[in-house]
Amino acid sequence: MNKRLQVEMSDASYPIHIGRALLEQPQLIADYISHQSVFVVSNSTVGDLYLDRLKAALKGFSVNEYLIGDGERFKTLQTVEAIIGAMLESGQTRETTVIALGGGVVGDIAGFAGAVYQRGVNVIQIPTTLLAQVDSSVGGKTAVNHLLGKNMIGAFHQPVAVFIDVDVLASLPPRELRAGLAEVIKHGALADAGYLSWLQSNVKNLLALEKDAITKMVLRSCEIKSSVVSQDERESGLRALLNLGHTFGHAIETLSGYGVWLHGEAVAVGMVMAADLSARLGKITWEDAGYLKSLLLQFELPISPPDNLNNEQLFAAMGRDKKATGKGMRFVLLNGLGNACLEEEVPTELIQQTLQAGRKLCCP
Ligand SMILES: NC(=O)c1ccc[n+]([C@@H]2O[C@H](COP(=O)([O-])OP(=O)(O)OC[C@H]3O[C@@H](n4cnc5c(N)ncnc54)[C@H](O)[C@@H]3O)[C@@H](O)[C@H]2O)c1
Ligand SMILES: [Zn+2]
Repeated sequence: MNKRLQVEMSDASYPIHIGRALLEQPQLIADYISHQSVFVVSNSTVGDLYLDRLKAALKGFSVNEYLIGDGERFKTLQTVEAIIGAMLESGQTRETTVIALGGGVVGDIAGFAGAVYQRGVNVIQIPTTLLAQVDSSVGGKTAVNHLLGKNMIGAFHQPVAVFIDVDVLASLPPRELRAGLAEVIKHGALADAGYLSWLQSNVKNLLALEKDAITKMVLRSCEIKSSVVSQDERESGLRALLNLGHTFGHAIETLSGYGVWLHGEAVAVGMVMAADLSARLGKITWEDAGYLKSLLLQFELPISPPDNLNNEQLFAAMGRDKKATGKGMRFVLLNGLGNACLEEEVPTELIQQTLQAGRKLCCP
């Protein structure tokens, strides 16, 4: 059964459709295409797998496409220029609908191209990684990277609709699936302890991509993410809670070199650290911190930083992270499982203790 979730934004509200074989339901997609022309942006990997299926569903429309290279390194202004060039050459107008078919990289870059092409055209997101389905396709943030920083060039541009076909997860490399599951666990940890228990009772089903369980999970995660972004459309406060585990996580990602650790893997370790720090501050019990850690382990995610990075390096990298304020280090912590909070000035000594404690953990 298909599910539908409405994302409420002040200037636009749009649906997220979640279910099986959505790519084979032409009418569903057609309802969100206002004129004849569609421009699909995908990448070489996802294009090979799903572009024909999507084009078959778009029969009757004038469809053009552009495939970008596969990988974060293609998330650049240069690629945006190439996409826009292809749109101009194929005669796309302001009435064209851009469809992003792919993971978060494709979603971010196609969303950005859609935001700036002739001052903005309609965009439909069809996310194909779990991370993109539960995270990047919801909320309207689009961006490309600059040499000096990730996601430094971007715009808010809400899609007209999001289609989440859970069947496409079947071809996703298992490691990418688990990385997406880290963001799912994050949703439970920050907003809904009951969801965490449900995830724990469904570990096997979810890792085996059992469709009902996966659909239910994607729906609940999209509900949590969209509820947060609807309350904070331009990221001035509440959205920061979605960064649970990201201050530590970014430090690991940056120091290891992007791509060595998947983002979700680094966030998993980051959440263990955030829970440890929360326990040190008396905000959650050690039992709850242990529960979160064991859940991550059950989903085969890492729970401690790599041995080749020392604590001094991690601490320094966390200080450079954009979520550090002038006064001290700012963290998203847990006031109990399912209840994230922002903590402005966390004592350095406790952070050091948490980093030290992280060394005692074992890897999966
Ligand atoms: N806009 C936001 O709010 C937001 C939020 C989180 C992350 N992001 C961005 O998302 C990006 C990461 O996204 P990602 O983790 O999806 O990575 P990705 O887009 O690089 O996809 C990961 C890999 O999976 C492949 N792939 C995608 N779908 C597949 C499928 N169904 N079958 C087989 N292979 C498939 C891709 O080709 C790629 O090799 C980063 O650039 C990050 O900045 C954006
Ligand atoms: Zn993340």
